[in-house]
Amino acid sequence: MSRLKITVVGAGNVGATTAQRLAERDYADVVLVDIVEGLPQGKALDLNETGPVLGYEPNVIGTNGYEETAGSDVCVITSGIARKPGMSRDDLLTTNQKIVADVTQNLVSRSPDTILIVVTNPLDAMCQVAFAEAKLPRERVIGMAGVLDSARFRTFLAWELGVSVRDVTGFVLGGHGDQMVPVTSYTNVAGIPITDLIGQERLAEIVQRTRDGGAEVVKLLKSGSAYYAPSASVVEMVDSIVQDQKRVLPCAAYLTGEFGLNGIFMGVPCRLGAGGLEEIIKLNLTDHEQAQLNRSAEAVRELVGVMGL
Ligand code: NAI
Ligand code: 2OP
Repeated sequence: MSRLKITVVGAGNVGATTAQRLAERDYADVVLVDIVEGLPQGKALDLNETGPVLGYEPNVIGTNGYEETAGSDVCVITSGIARKPGMSRDDLLTTNQKIVADVTQNLVSRSPDTILIVVTNPLDAMCQVAFAEAKLPRERVIGMAGVLDSARFRTFLAWELGVSVRDVTGFVLGGHGDQMVPVTSYTNVAGIPITDLIGQERLAEIVQRTRDGGAEVVKLLKSGSAYYAPSASVVEMVDSIVQDQKRVLPCAAYLTGEFGLNGIFMGVPCRLGAGGLEEIIKLNLTDHEQAQLNRSAEAVRELVGVMGL
């Protein structure tokens, strides 16, 4: 029986760290693709040479083309550029739109049965690009952001209360932007509602820190953005898909009326299994949370409008 194949496009910080985590799991062959000559090949070689030390099979292929990606079970798209000085948000949007469309076309033409996980920013808009280009059912085009944003939220809550992060359950929904929605009504510590444990004012500060979570890391790093937690978040989704774990994780999914929203990608609770997105789980949001979700949807729609999709 042949091993699973997982392709990661973009051998930068997020892509290479994702490839590393996947290689260490040893359940799939990993193909790492980038346009920079030598970069994916060098990182793949380095990862293969780690196998004997950590005890996994050296099965990472680095390439500048797509032939080796054929027949991938899952493809992760991290390729793109980050915003540079003098560049508008719209410039970033249209540049990454072209990259994600081209990458998606190259992947899906060789792996028509694949499940795509989109990571490139602006996340929700890039999911829409991949979805339009791939022409796959919505079950097989999923975006990663909610797992990361929720992990940040859970970390800050655990620190605040001095409890284990394992006991903190929380969802961050909506778009991966300033308007994201940490859903406090569904956040708890070992089943105890978070609102019983933290006062409203302090909780609002933690919610805001979560919204600013990506920017906080960028400010410290000065160049580049977070990649340890993002790659771990991608791999949590991949695990659930390839091992049919049925995890319920917040992911960007194409909405067809759920939460009153239609025709856009947004972060919602998703059951992930062998079929990809197997179910969008419904929640009873408070009026305030629903209003925040609607506002977040408007921000996503605005970006999608700029792309002319
Ligand atoms: P990076 O700059 O380290 O890596 C990006 C890589 O993409 C580079 O190696 C570049 O050569 C490659 N690339 C560019 N165009 C390509 C093409 N057409 N084909 C193949 N490769 C191409 O950036 P990093 O830190 O890895 O981030 C990647 C993306 O993920 C960014 O858009 C970033 O904003 C986003 N991101 C999203 C998160 C989320 O929660 N959704 C979290 C963290 C990052
Ligand atoms: C983050 O939230 C940059 O989207 C990325 O860290």
